[in-house]
Amino acid sequence: MYETPDLDADVLVRTHEIRVHDAEGFEGMRRAGRLVAEALDMITPFVVPGVTTGELDDRIREFTLDHGALPACLGYKGYEKTVCTSINHVVCHGIPGDKVLKDGDIVNVDHTVIVDGWHGDSSRMFAVGSVNARARKLIEVTYDSLEAGLAVIRPGATFGDIGYAIQQVVEANRMSVVRDFCGHGIGQLFHDSPNVLHYGRRGEGAVLKAGMFFTVEPMVNLGKPHVKVLSDGWTAVTRDKSLSAQCEHTVGVTEDGVELFSASPAGLFRPTF
Ligand code: MF3
Ligand code: CO
Ligand code: CO
Repeated sequence: MYETPDLDADVLVRTHEIRVHDAEGFEGMRRAGRLVAEALDMITPFVVPGVTTGELDDRIREFTLDHGALPACLGYKGYEKTVCTSINHVVCHGIPGDKVLKDGDIVNVDHTVIVDGWHGDSSRMFAVGSVNARARKLIEVTYDSLEAGLAVIRPGATFGDIGYAIQQVVEANRMSVVRDFCGHGIGQLFHDSPNVLHYGRRGEGAVLKAGMFFTVEPMVNLGKPHVKVLSDGWTAVTRDKSLSAQCEHTVGVTEDGVELFSASPAGLFRPTF
């Protein structure tokens, strides 16, 4: 039996257009953003020397499922874990496993939840034990760059304004912005339009409108910006083996600025040393 496709159905596929969401979308994103932040808050005391990245992954998966949400990365394009754990010179998409965290490591934990169909995507840096001054500086600059990018968000600004603000902070500190990965629109789709670049020129790119939802997730290297993906098909590392850091928020454009959906209820978004 052949059924005529419903051409008017609001099918959730990525197009070049940037979605503008309504109040119901904001409600959904608040719940998803809060849960991903709570999961990262929960894991914070466990990120210590001796723990394996697999144990962190297990705890976050169980926490997420216990709270009635789905881990968005699990099964996504064949990815087999809940979170990404990116240690030291790993830029992003490190795969959790038997690897043991040791004193002095820096690690990013990146998690995405689906709550009632809405996605919350956030990542933070964690210092394992005591980390050296250069690593601390890298983390500070990465967070400062994200904050600078978020600070320009309001209707009428452009995506280029966000990238410019991030790049300025990073390069003023003689560090580099990774070009090969970017933020993304988000909502009922995990990776939607637009690509959110972490470098750019003021006034370029699409104009921000109230109701747009996206991530900002700069990756910053102490050395050159170039990356390569390892043979596992996921793990991205700096080509020059320099340290790399990242942090990510899911945000919405409001009538007069920005709403951080993934703000930490416990105030743990930025690590303290
Ligand atoms: N959470 C990542 C992001 O910020 C995506 C990870 S994709 C995965 O977009 F498949 F590796 F999980
Ligand atoms: Co993301
Ligand atoms: Co993420």
